[in-house]
Amino acid sequence: MRLKNIKGSREYIAASSLVIDEDVMASFRGCWKEKVFGNENPLQIEIGMGKGKFITALAALHPDVNYIGIEKYSSTLLRGVQKVEENPLPNIRFLRMDAEGITDIFGEGEVDRIYLNFSDPWPKDRHAKRRLENKLFLKKYHVILKDDGIIEFKTDNVNLFDFAVEELKGEPWKVLGITRDLHHDEKMNVNNVMTEYEEKFSAMGNPIYKYVIEKQKGATGS
Ligand SMILES: C[S@@+](CC[C@H](N)C(=O)[O-])C[C@H]1O[C@@H](n2cnc3c(N)ncnc32)[C@H](O)[C@@H]1O
Repeated sequence: MRLKNIKGSREYIAASSLVIDEDVMASFRGCWKEKVFGNENPLQIEIGMGKGKFITALAALHPDVNYIGIEKYSSTLLRGVQKVEENPLPNIRFLRMDAEGITDIFGEGEVDRIYLNFSDPWPKDRHAKRRLENKLFLKKYHVILKDDGIIEFKTDNVNLFDFAVEELKGEPWKVLGITRDLHHDEKMNVNNVMTEYEEKFSAMGNPIYKYVIEKQKGATGS
């Protein structure tokens, strides 16, 4: 979701205490809970949070969990920051960054759970390396997740979902749940928090695909 460039969004974000400055974020690698949140609560991140509806809702529901929302574009991130400014929450922060560099920002085993919601599908084959569910990204997530850490991935894009499931083959992940119609899956839909895209696409009648996978011990491919 790339919103039209909002003038001043970069400066606004740079001035917000909710957004960790790009120049210092790597210095918190390995100590986010202690140094940023001042507690030992679990750390959960959403990569490609868009305007932040999902992660701010989770932060309000679970005050005993630390949340970090990651988004590449300032104009989009701005909306999430403003949501929390309007309704302050102590357990959420934001990073404006490309997920490519995720292992520079989080230490080994530091993250408890990763959410990937309605990731950009990048339909052209030559752009497959940008898909956030490809093997290269899975390898990075494997590093930063704790043992038995979880990834939850939702999309309405069947091609991206099929690709994502294929990418798991031969890799050290255990599938805990998988559905091709989340909203009609009694078990997997329990406590589902809708994202902006999920609301929009399910209202159009699109089924929502989801997998939940758990990190297993073992070497990842590349
Ligand atoms: C289609 S939107 C979905 C937004 C939100 N998760 C939702 O479900 O409503 C995908 C978002 O991921 C962001 N994004 C895509 N690739 C990214 C990357 N490599 N690093 C960080 N954010 C990324 C985009 O800028 C966009 O805001």
